[in-house]
Amino acid sequence: MGKQRVLSGVQPTGNLHLGNYLGAIRNWVEGQSQYENFFCVVDLHAITVPHNPATLAADTYKIAALYLACGIDLQYSTIFVQSHVSAHSELTWLLNCITPLNWLERMIQFKEKAVKQGENVSTGLLDYPVLMAADILLYDADLVPVGEDQKQHIELTRDIVIRLNDQFGSPKKPVLKLPEPLIRKEGARVMSLTDGTKKMSKSDPSELSRINLLDSPDEIQKKIKRCKTDPIKGLEFDNPERPECNNLLTLYTILSGKTKEVVAAECQDMGWGQFKPLLTETVIESLKPIQQKYDEVMADKSYLESVLREGRQQAEAIANPILSKVKTALGYSIPL
Ligand code: TYM
Repeated sequence: MGKQRVLSGVQPTGNLHLGNYLGAIRNWVEGQSQYENFFCVVDLHAITVPHNPATLAADTYKIAALYLACGIDLQYSTIFVQSHVSAHSELTWLLNCITPLNWLERMIQFKEKAVKQGENVSTGLLDYPVLMAADILLYDADLVPVGEDQKQHIELTRDIVIRLNDQFGSPKKPVLKLPEPLIRKEGARVMSLTDGTKKMSKSDPSELSRINLLDSPDEIQKKIKRCKTDPIKGLEFDNPERPECNNLLTLYTILSGKTKEVVAAECQDMGWGQFKPLLTETVIESLKPIQQKYDEVMADKSYLESVLREGRQQAEAIANPILSKVKTALGYSIPL
């Protein structure tokens, strides 16, 4: 039996933060040798909210370079840009026509983002999860490694598959494969540094709320120095009254590679004045190799371009036949 296939992606909006890394990319890297992997930079998703055309292409390259810098290995994984493979847009249209509108109106992320956009909510923002479903389904992905916030979108993808197979396939000959989310417990929901009850997010107006993978040691130190804590001495996990404490200890646990038990014992008598420098050092040290590799990759633009050119070919080789299969099932004639 062949390897199971994995697909995932990140939007090229601004920088990547520790939530994106710990919730998604780090898990892609750790699991990649077991699977056949496709990792895309989802630049079509990036225009569902107002965007800057002057920086879109550069931001897209930056994320692709960060994938490599974080340890995505081309021996096991394909890296490509969503907009380079036109099958994504085409399958989205076909799936749109079988997705009930009220399934999309229910999506939590749509409701949250729509509030922020006021009158300017685009049709694309509502349709975002159908484009995400197309991303996954074009590759017959078995597994989709993401953070907790994407679970509902993968459930929607599954509902779309069930509906499409039911209407246009047969139980013995399903048209599309049913994917599963792959959500690791630790790091699945990294919280904001300024409010431990809100998730760390690219769209938070405060830079102090997140640590970006490309932050300098000085910036990291400043952000941790100013992050929200509480007046209680002694640090502990899982106390619902102390969300910031749980979040910071969890970051320390994952990045130091220690177990939760070891960290709980190490920090139980510590005050914040002692813990913050320890966390700062750990974050700086874990990001250092990523930042060094990122600089190397960015210094060789032609290499990055060749990675994406090859990625596009490999992605199209899988995606185009699956698109044709869906078109045939829906009754289209395929041009010869
Ligand atoms: P994006 O760019 O918003 O987030 C990228 C990944 O980072 C995870 N993530 C987090 N994990 C833990 N804690 C946080 N605070 C945190 N913030 C973000 C997200 O869960 C995600 O895994 N819709 C997707 C992009 C996408 C996609 C796909 C993913 C488009 N098509 C197909 C998988 C498969 C998103 O929101 O990306």
